[in-house]
Amino acid sequence: MSTTTRPPVQDWATDFDVLDPAFAADPSGVYAELRSSAPLARSERWGGSWMPTRYEDVVAIAHDTERFSSSDVGVLPFEGLDRDRPPSSPPITSDPPDHTWHRRLILPFFSPKAVERYEVRTRELCRRLMADITAPGRHHADAAVEYAQQIPPRIIADIIGVPESDVDMFVEWTQAVLENGGLNPERRITARKEMLTYFFGLLEERKKERRDDITSYLLDQEVDGQPLRDGHIVGTMTLMLVAGIDTTWSSIGSALLHLATHDEDRRRLVAEPELTVTAVEEFLRAYAPVTMARIATTDVEVAGRTIKAGDKVLMTFPAANRDPGQFERADEVIIDRAVNRHVAFGVGVHRCAGSNLARMEMVVAIEEFLRALPEFGLDPQGELTFAGGQVRGPRQLPIVY
Ligand code: HEM
Repeated sequence: MSTTTRPPVQDWATDFDVLDPAFAADPSGVYAELRSSAPLARSERWGGSWMPTRYEDVVAIAHDTERFSSSDVGVLPFEGLDRDRPPSSPPITSDPPDHTWHRRLILPFFSPKAVERYEVRTRELCRRLMADITAPGRHHADAAVEYAQQIPPRIIADIIGVPESDVDMFVEWTQAVLENGGLNPERRITARKEMLTYFFGLLEERKKERRDDITSYLLDQEVDGQPLRDGHIVGTMTLMLVAGIDTTWSSIGSALLHLATHDEDRRRLVAEPELTVTAVEEFLRAYAPVTMARIATTDVEVAGRTIKAGDKVLMTFPAANRDPGQFERADEVIIDRAVNRHVAFGVGVHRCAGSNLARMEMVVAIEEFLRALPEFGLDPQGELTFAGGQVRGPRQLPIVY
């Protein structure tokens, strides 16, 4: 199914399209309508799936690892070669009890203390990028391409232990696997293969000589007296790449889009930079980028409907975050919101392992952007575009200053 041949959506309750361009640009209206009229929507598009929009349903499903498996977390189906074999990327595709040790293996790299190590480098990188954007004579930039997109892949490359020169390749793979997968399934499969070849190669290098990186660390770990399988390590490496890049650049991009279009909030953050930490939580809530999926292991009743064993359910964290039953003035962005139990990072055992890192990157990216460029707006001459589906956010964000 390609975008050009897909019929437009007539009824979101029975035929939603996760890649609909208007939905990708702003899904909040659709979520609000479904939440009151059809809180568990159904669509046969993209392999068929269910879409809960109420906070309580999304959270309950996320906690219910018995009846909802993470064996296939892809919002879009893997067509072609991989159709019956969704990629294994522990811990995100693991179910309990194995999930517990799959996750434990990577946590040391994402503790608050470990993240402190990356902050200096992140700040330097952001300052370097802003120096280019604010170079004398420049008045236009693409804040998504030239800024948001540049930050997470470089930090992840550092953690994995690969050179910065490979970063552009990582970005292309991530987009091919996550964003454009539905539109170009062939490239999705070849990109995945290239990624696997790259990481198996890296593993061989580290087997010969260890370095101070997560790849070397995983090679030295044992479970029940056995080293990890190569396939396990490579699955985890690909997850780091895919989970750490698109998500964070989408969040930084959405925050900058908000600031480009809300002068009052931007000026307040410039005047009160200490508010950035709180504002970042609100940006995460209101513009949550990530939707995941689960597979029902048995028939389950949700919101008065029956999800059949084997059905796919979308974990619509972005919809849960806009539920007025959970958040006051849910569709407003309140940058000093005091109570904010959002689920942008998921909830339950799979809650984002990289949340400390993501938060640090967002805070530093926004602080450094506003420090260098306190006054800017959306460029009406440029084209604002969005990615949708599994990870939603601006992909072209033209600004003028
Ligand atoms: C703003 C940025 C980010 C957002 C919104 C985000 C969101 C999420 C969400 C919603 C999940 C839950 C998946 C599920 O329930 O199936 C998740 C899991 C995960 N994220 Fe993130 N993420 C972000 C950044 C990162 C970064 C920078 C990393 C670091 C590499 C990362 C690594 C992971 C990992 C390893 C998991 C799997 C945890 C598990 O299954 O136990 N994420 N993320």
